[in-house]
Amino acid sequence: MTDALRPGSGQALLSARHLTTEFHLADKTVARALEDVSFDVLPGQTVGLVGESGCGKTTTLMSVMRLLPSNGRITAGNVYFNGNDLLALSERDMRAHRWKDMAIIFQGAMNALNPVLRIGDQIREAILLHDLMDRAAADRRVDELLELVGIPRGRRDQYPHQYSGGMRQRAMIAMALACSPDLLFADEPTTALDVMIQAQVLELLKEIQKKLGLAIVLVTHDLGVVAEMCDTVVVMYGGKVAEYGSAELVYNQPQHPYTQRLLESFPDLNRPPDSANRDLATIPGTPPRLNALPPGCRFSPRCHMSMDVCAQVTPGKVNVSTGSGVLHQVACHLLNEQEINK
Ligand SMILES: Nc1ncnc2c1ncn2[C@@H]1O[C@H](COP(=O)(O)OP(=O)(O)OP(=O)(O)O)[C@@H](O)[C@H]1O
Ligand code: SF4
Ligand SMILES: [Mg+2]
Repeated sequence: MTDALRPGSGQALLSARHLTTEFHLADKTVARALEDVSFDVLPGQTVGLVGESGCGKTTTLMSVMRLLPSNGRITAGNVYFNGNDLLALSERDMRAHRWKDMAIIFQGAMNALNPVLRIGDQIREAILLHDLMDRAAADRRVDELLELVGIPRGRRDQYPHQYSGGMRQRAMIAMALACSPDLLFADEPTTALDVMIQAQVLELLKEIQKKLGLAIVLVTHDLGVVAEMCDTVVVMYGGKVAEYGSAELVYNQPQHPYTQRLLESFPDLNRPPDSANRDLATIPGTPPRLNALPPGCRFSPRCHMSMDVCAQVTPGKVNVSTGSGVLHQVACHLLNEQEINK
């Protein structure tokens, strides 16, 4: 294991610390969508964000990018990018980071391309929106980006309906990379694609990552994708981090009952990447309502290992592998090593 995967190595490009985000709902209640979410992204690394629907994956990305909808608010925590706290910046200063340092492929975005604009023109508009350059320079940049994502130049003047799903997702990747960010958030970038095309898009992301030294935060329901792509995994449940660590350890020695259940319910991790039906199978029960959270551990109503303490006391994070120093943290009362507050 490299130093880069050791906690506190101090080399992080992005560090989220104790991030807490709430949504004000129409019925005047407050949904705490994230609580105390901390993780690091190191340069050139891929971090997987995984968990059932509604666990806070998209909210995590939107909080970090400071793109929450108007009823959402970050109520605590910090987000450091190269050591600068993004949450302390004015919106104007934040604009210097958004898209240029870190960019996002939004969930479902490939279906939101403008149907009446040519793909090349849409990419050029994305460039001109964030970068000061003349049209000719932007046009050259469009050609570079198309080449980077494997769209033949001859297809630059086509419209979205002339593109397949995979090609549209390539165009979205090109747009996200328009201003050469160091960090790319990809929110379920392959979910709507068939399995062969999924594999191609992931391969493309890997190639681009290698070429550009890009760090990627990949949101996915697919544990097979995490296994293939990620150095580090953040397993989320009910807006909190249940387990966080090197992908190898989280896969081979999962410690949190929720992670164990996710891995057990996953069809078969050893199947080849083009096998069908790779989404999470369901775990009995449903995730908690975020405006009426249960006391104690949020997973306790569904947990097969639940103890009396679980329904009363919220488990803190512990380092599992303090001896080896390899990153592996779990929030569960079954682990009773000394709690950490990093
Ligand atoms: N604009 C909003 N207003 C109110 N609640 C919201 C809003 N956006 C998200 N939420 C709530 O916050 C929680 C986390 O949602 P989020 O979209 O982050 O989940 P997710 O893990 O990305 O799920 P999925 O896998 O379905 O995309 C959910 O309970 C969701 O209902
Ligand atoms: S703290 Fe208790 S309920 Fe929560 S995951 Fe651990 S054993 Fe299960
Ligand atoms: Mg989402």
